[in-house]
Amino acid sequence: MSSLTTVTCIEDLRRMAQRRVPRMFYDYVESGSWTESTFRSNVDDFQRLKFKQRVAVDIQSRSLRSSMIGTEVAMPVALAPTGLTGMLCGDGEILAARAAERFGVPFTLSTMSICSIEDIATHTSRPFWFQLYVMRDRDFMRRLIDRAKAAGCSALMLTLDLQVMGQRHKDIKNGLAAPPKPTLRNLLNLATKPQWCLSMSRTPRRSFGNIVGHAKGVSDVSSLASWTTEQFDPALCWQDIEWIKQAWGGKLVVKGIMDAEDARHAADCGADALIVSNHGGRQLDGAPSSIAALPHIVQAVRGDIEIWLDGGIRSGQDVLRAVALGAQGTLIGRAFLYGLGAAGQAGVERALQIIAKELDVSMAFCGRTDIGGVGRSILLNPQIFDDLTKI
Ligand code: GLV
Repeated sequence: MSSLTTVTCIEDLRRMAQRRVPRMFYDYVESGSWTESTFRSNVDDFQRLKFKQRVAVDIQSRSLRSSMIGTEVAMPVALAPTGLTGMLCGDGEILAARAAERFGVPFTLSTMSICSIEDIATHTSRPFWFQLYVMRDRDFMRRLIDRAKAAGCSALMLTLDLQVMGQRHKDIKNGLAAPPKPTLRNLLNLATKPQWCLSMSRTPRRSFGNIVGHAKGVSDVSSLASWTTEQFDPALCWQDIEWIKQAWGGKLVVKGIMDAEDARHAADCGADALIVSNHGGRQLDGAPSSIAALPHIVQAVRGDIEIWLDGGIRSGQDVLRAVALGAQGTLIGRAFLYGLGAAGQAGVERALQIIAKELDVSMAFCGRTDIGGVGRSILLNPQIFDDLTKI
């Protein structure tokens, strides 16, 4: 797409997405909870880590290739599970999954997606990962697990930090719903988004594909917040992970770990990886940034399981900083969603290219040629988050 030739950074994609995506869905992506302080510090804290520049080191041949729980990846980045992705453009999850497949990084489908598990399996050829919430309706959960198995998903990602929901003011004010309600305000806004309207008119997928028609007695999930409040199980505890692990029987990743003791629980419950995550600053406002929480968790786990990180990654430099502090993998949410909203599959591919290039060149400036060998020594101040009470 010609308009992508002048897109040089993730921020360019964000601005394009803001112009093209209806306001309520752009705001859904761009929100944190309450004051949005954690949402902002996720991004800002990355900038506090400074690189050590090295010169006259042979950096001719470089590799970003790595692995995440046994999956070979072109760089240590996966697409995070994000709700309502198919509302940023028609068939959004299918397009993002295809972009990830072309690039050679994993795609994770959210339970709260618009395209269903089966849609992704039909339209892609590489195994993808499926994200699950712990819901009160255990039969429905089991059926989702069975559907993910039947679709050939190669990992289950269990999100542990959304048993209650952090309030996002904009979603309430905008009356967030999928599909959007035909109010005058929405119709006026949609009238300014012709490309979005065209892409949505070409797909039948406009509601929650994993849920509507699958969960008993659920015909309308249009209000995400109220559905979540009714369905997600606030009684979730570590024992629940055992039956889920058994029912799934494959690779398990737990998401939403911000505390060293919880990280030990995650390792002890037999997960293959944990994700240091504050849900993109969308849940507990006032929690530290993910990058600030990472070193404590690395120390607590001591290599027993893989540690990944999401939250605030907007560049390949951020990926490099996370890897330097001990993350074996990272996940991007907003960074790929901006690409999707801006230009569909091509936009997601552009986001991945941008991140890979920034990662590769920054690694070279640090005098390194293999992402696998990157550690704290590429940073001038790796200890900056060691005392979290001082940040
Ligand atoms: C769902 O995961 C959300 O953050 O809205």
